[in-house]
Amino acid sequence: MTQASSAARDAPPPTTDATVGAEWWRSAVIYQIYPRSFADANGDGMGDLAGITSRLDALKQLGIDAIWLSPFFPSPQKDAGYDVADYCDVDPLFGTLTDVDEMTDAAHSRGIRVIIDLVPNHSSDRHPWFQQALAAAPGSFERDRYMFRDGRGPDGAEAPNNWESVFGGPAWTRTVDAQGTPGQWYLHLFDSSQPDFDWSNPDVRSMFRDVLRFWLDRGVDGFRVDVAHGLVKADGLPDFTPPGSAGSMGGQGTTDSTAVLAPYWGQDGVHDIYREWNQVLAEYDGQRVLCAEAWVDPLQKMALWVRPDEMQQAFNFPYLETPWSGAELRRIIDESIAAFSAVGAPSTWVLSNHDVVRHASRLALTQENPQGHGIGPETADRPNIDIGLARARAASALMLALPGGAYLYQGEELGLPEAIDLPDEARQDPTWFRTNHERYGRDGCRVPIPWDADAPAYGFSATGASWLPQPDDWAPYARSSQLGVAGSTLELYSRALWLRKTHQLGLGAIEWHDAGDDSVLWFSNGPITVVANTSDQDAVVPTSLSEATRALESAPAPDGGIPADSTVWFLTP
Ligand code: NOJ
Repeated sequence: MTQASSAARDAPPPTTDATVGAEWWRSAVIYQIYPRSFADANGDGMGDLAGITSRLDALKQLGIDAIWLSPFFPSPQKDAGYDVADYCDVDPLFGTLTDVDEMTDAAHSRGIRVIIDLVPNHSSDRHPWFQQALAAAPGSFERDRYMFRDGRGPDGAEAPNNWESVFGGPAWTRTVDAQGTPGQWYLHLFDSSQPDFDWSNPDVRSMFRDVLRFWLDRGVDGFRVDVAHGLVKADGLPDFTPPGSAGSMGGQGTTDSTAVLAPYWGQDGVHDIYREWNQVLAEYDGQRVLCAEAWVDPLQKMALWVRPDEMQQAFNFPYLETPWSGAELRRIIDESIAAFSAVGAPSTWVLSNHDVVRHASRLALTQENPQGHGIGPETADRPNIDIGLARARAASALMLALPGGAYLYQGEELGLPEAIDLPDEARQDPTWFRTNHERYGRDGCRVPIPWDADAPAYGFSATGASWLPQPDDWAPYARSSQLGVAGSTLELYSRALWLRKTHQLGLGAIEWHDAGDDSVLWFSNGPITVVANTSDQDAVVPTSLSEATRALESAPAPDGGIPADSTVWFLTP
């Protein structure tokens, strides 16, 4: 690992919120960049940091407050960079440390903050520590940094317990020494190339404190923390069979707080780690943040990650997983606000990311599709593209009117659907391989995004190269096809973000009104009143709003109603 630099770089931009005490992240709209698929400056078909820098003006124009970049660190790319071989450098695929600095400075000069991904649950098997551990003897300090155990059964030929990997198959792999003799097993909650660290080991703790400081010194504004619910495992590593259809990233698939806790998710011990990190961030000026990727239920439990002395934000996955139903959305919005405000934190809202089916497709699925399964050519439940887009636009318009922080995933502002018909041979997600092609996995939401309808690779890469093939019918989704076009999804997002900022909706509070119909959500946030119609029938405008100005419409409403699957914002005095 490269040593942490002590040279402090440019400070992040000053907070722009007028309200005293309103830290920027309480209301920010944070745009997720998946570097592999955002913009490719060197033409090799893989997005890169210089590509990101070159497109920052487009993001500024969109009106976001911060970007979060998925991993760009040296990595064998077995899990698209979530298998990190060096936490303090940049993979040549994406550029150099200088490119990170240039990108960060360019973002800051536009008032955009920069959050990077931290992957502390596991490293790559190419990380020097893991290589040293493999070469060392059982019981050595090198092995103690990871989760090595003897196998069960007479020859130690059975895995130490019955845990399954999130990506399918067993969560343990047996080592083989240089002479070909089978040895101990190591734990990997994800791919076999992603060995789990042992977080009871002080070396591990100290290494990650150094990693935080390395990037904070370079001027990043915070970290999205991967698998923030997984670092600590229960003593004795007891066998565990997840109940029912638990989401693959964790949670129990239930809101029942008495459900049995998985011995590898959401253990109390993780909180000490985040308290320590909170202190590290506090050494720096400028409101740095930690955002937890913690797939835990119920929301009251997730809120433990954002107590005042831990992290600042946690992704609201229960919201992401809520179906397009008025009653269920209202329930989850209320629960979210209650659970997070009980610990003094803002709720976050998120509909898409690089691990789930894009919401322009997901919201039109008619059957349950557990996280990580994905959809592909043989999926019987093929989403209707028009219904999906209408619902996605309505859902995003609803989300952007809510108080708290919001996360967008690159391409959703273009209304991009999931790429369903990727050829088998193009797929790269380890899930696809570890389940013998039973689950498609997440490649369909990771296809490089379209910028220019008429350019090679839709402007993603000047050479036309693209690490995952782009569908032939994406020209209408390209930014160039939507910019300045009234009614386009891009314009809908830009306007929503502008109104959100102008009226400080992120710092507001909602007040519900009774629409007399469960499928219609009706609430006010300051001067904006929102009516979202989740049904397949048009709804009438509540009488009290009949004279109000329509500030935003997710669908054309020529006769002045609230069309099916649409959201309207009214400006009320
Ligand atoms: C969550 C990340 O979002 C996902 O992409 C990754 O595969 C796993 N964590 C393992 O790091």
